[in-house]
Amino acid sequence: MNTSARYIIVVVFFIISIHYIISFTHESYGRATSLSNLKNKFLPSSSSSSSSPASDALENFPVHNSPYIGAGGFNETLVTDKKANATFVILCRNSDLGNTVKSIREIEDRFNRRYRYPYVLLNEEEFTDEFKQRISVLTSAKIEFGLIPREHWFQPDWIDETKAKAGRDKMVENNIIYGGSFFFKHPLMQKYRWYWRIEPDVHFHCDINYDPFLFMQEKEKVYSFTITMYEYEATIPTLWGHVMDFAKAHPEYIAKDNALGFMSTDNGKSYNLCHFWSNFEIADMDFWRGEAYQAFFDYLDRQGGFYYERWGDAPVHSIAAALFAPRDKIHFFSDIGYEHNPYTHCPKDKGEWERGRCSCDPARSFDYDGYSCMSKWDKFMEK
Ligand SMILES: *[C@@H]1O[C@H](CO)[C@@H](O)[C@H](O)[C@H]1NC(C)=O
Ligand SMILES: *[C@@H]1O[C@H](CO)[C@@H](O)[C@H](O)[C@H]1NC(C)=O
Repeated sequence: MNTSARYIIVVVFFIISIHYIISFTHESYGRATSLSNLKNKFLPSSSSSSSSPASDALENFPVHNSPYIGAGGFNETLVTDKKANATFVILCRNSDLGNTVKSIREIEDRFNRRYRYPYVLLNEEEFTDEFKQRISVLTSAKIEFGLIPREHWFQPDWIDETKAKAGRDKMVENNIIYGGSFFFKHPLMQKYRWYWRIEPDVHFHCDINYDPFLFMQEKEKVYSFTITMYEYEATIPTLWGHVMDFAKAHPEYIAKDNALGFMSTDNGKSYNLCHFWSNFEIADMDFWRGEAYQAFFDYLDRQGGFYYERWGDAPVHSIAAALFAPRDKIHFFSDIGYEHNPYTHCPKDKGEWERGRCSCDPARSFDYDGYSCMSKWDKFMEK
């Protein structure tokens, strides 16, 4: 090796050493000159040439493909192994499409995507193809679309049609769907025992990390609610009188330890107008199909009030549950955050509210509003 070759080796060694010393002590210098970085500058990176910007953005981002596990740590597979004989039921019109989509989207997100209970949608006229298509993309559960003809649906022949029509028109005006009291008689509902009633444009504010249908079944409940309030007297002027006539004629149907005391404090003489708000209901249709309710319903039907006064299903269902079921078979779902404009039930219990990852404000829950019957229910159940 000659002198100049030795000289070049020393210089090269010196430059490399300086490079490494600066790389370690000055981060930005190291980054700017590192080999891999230089390579990226001059060669097209293999990923950018073959994949779209969207999938690039998901690189290094956790995507959960594993089965959903709810806030309560439930294992989806375990829960869905056991299912109740149950369905959702929604009464709606074609014009309710947007709001029906919202309701189903929310109950799917908060509950049903893990449980896949079927839906029955009932309308006064045929559902449009657009309606069916927009609903069917929302869930992998079975959906059935049925018809409740507006005219003459279960209306007895002796009813004065002119008078009944006036009542019906008033309901249409108030956007109340005719047939609400009868949906459990619909052929599409016959194969189920339990139903969960939903309406267009309602909101579910909390995750539901267990199966309320199975809860009802295992705890032997027949009826449940989230909101209870006073009914407008004008819609049921003669109802309570007929109820009491029926109760006197049929003591055999009145349950021991019933919830009559929630609705009347003078042993039935007067009605305080408290009822369960039936746009949310999870209930046992076998109870509605049973002898007591059938006899009660037929009796009320003969009085004509369904057609002339437009008795709603809310007071009729509520009164029937209060009379024919023991009070401990009526359940208040305190943990289901539910909103039907203008009222919201939001869990007040901090644990329930946190577990449900609720989006509602507990301070604005309707429960103890002046128009709510919840404090009456609490007091009655304490006795
Ligand atoms: C859920 O439970 C099933 C059955 O025990 C099991 O096979 C599955 O791996 C569990 N899933 C998760 C995400 O733990
Ligand atoms: C579901 O309940 C209905 C009504 O009680 C009944 O007719 C039907 O046989 C039940 N189906 C199953 C699978 O148990």
